[in-house]
Amino acid sequence: MNQSYDVAIIGGGINGASIAYQLSKRDKKVIILEKKQLACQASSAAAGMLAAQAEIEQDGPLFQMALKSQAMFPDMANELFELTGIDIELVQKGMLKIAETEEIAIEAKQQVLFQRNWDSKIQWLDSAEIREMEPALSPNVAGGMYLPNDGHVQPEKLTAAFAKAAVQIGTQIRENTEVLSILFKNGQVKGVKTTNGDIHCEQVVVATGAWAGQLLRESGLDVPLYPVKGECFSIKTETPLINRTIFSDKRCYLVPKRNGEIYIGATMIENTFDLNVTPGGLATLIERATKLIPEIKDMAWERVWAGVRPQTGDGLPYIGEHPEWKGLFVAAGHFRNGILLSPITGKLVADLLGGKQDPIISAFKLERHLETVQ
Ligand code: FAD
Ligand code: GLY
Repeated sequence: MNQSYDVAIIGGGINGASIAYQLSKRDKKVIILEKKQLACQASSAAAGMLAAQAEIEQDGPLFQMALKSQAMFPDMANELFELTGIDIELVQKGMLKIAETEEIAIEAKQQVLFQRNWDSKIQWLDSAEIREMEPALSPNVAGGMYLPNDGHVQPEKLTAAFAKAAVQIGTQIRENTEVLSILFKNGQVKGVKTTNGDIHCEQVVVATGAWAGQLLRESGLDVPLYPVKGECFSIKTETPLINRTIFSDKRCYLVPKRNGEIYIGATMIENTFDLNVTPGGLATLIERATKLIPEIKDMAWERVWAGVRPQTGDGLPYIGEHPEWKGLFVAAGHFRNGILLSPITGKLVADLLGGKQDPIISAFKLERHLETVQ
């Protein structure tokens, strides 16, 4: 088997798959190395919200990158469908960001003014107006913000579509292959050592999500990257209970999927890779969700799951080349928004490997936290 490539991508999550797709489009010979199976971690646990405006409340490089990435979805959905036949289930009905109390509503109205700088169609809705849009909402909610551009996708299907499209234009994927270390010679990447032998290449992209810190540390680099576990559950309804995503805050949202499931998430538990779903976590989610949509409690239970978000010290991802080791690139730490950011991450990283650096990524560079392990 040929073990020489232009680029080895470590990690078969949504970011690894998107980067592989964009690199293959640029005629690079690429291999994805995945410890287990494609999309087996955060990229299948995600709710798939494209919540640039619900999740990010201030302007800056992350917000601007999120808006750009969100705008890429309609074309990307068509492009991937034409290439692979996979429908990523893009839903563009918008999101309602709920203010549960009058106190929260005061702050939320300030957000409406800020978010209108980016989209004049954003509106504040009072309790009656918001219930006209979504009649299942509790009469106790004070109101909310309508964000027409914050849609959602099916994240596992999007990862599969990126991967399948990449394979169709030359990428190879090796699952059940863990990368143990990165190989260097004279400050230049020479390949990776895996559980299935060495791979030779001059460029490596670390796209291992919450595990990136670990792999980089083993290579002598200390970058603050840690897991934040999120537990979710879903119910299934025969007729739609809600039509749009209901987003209360970062610990409670309901996303109505095309297959009739409503994803309800998610807890935030720091510093654990444990994927068990606990009764305590579920109880909190159920309590919060039924306060918003009381009928939830009578709906058919579907499933539970958990995943780990890759968080960084300052909430910004790492996208860039190592300042000293030529050929070592990182694309990790997308925390709560890795699905939303995946189209643009693929493009920015593929450009970077080709020597073209978009100014937006200077905010995400590795050096901002780089410490060398002695
Ligand atoms: P991952 O998907 O974690 O992939 C990393 C891969 O690397 C894994 O498959 C792992 O097995 C592999 N790996 C690790 N170490 C090695 C090694 N040494 N060798 C080989 N392979 C290795 N984002 C949104 O945009 N919208 C949402 O609505 C949303 N909801 C979320 C809800 C929950 C509950 C969670 C947990 C996350 C959510 N996210 C959401 C965040 C999003 O899921 C992540 O930011 C994104 O999936 C990260 O993708 P990734 O490819 O970087 O990492
Ligand atoms: N973005 C949703 C979550 O991380 O739970």
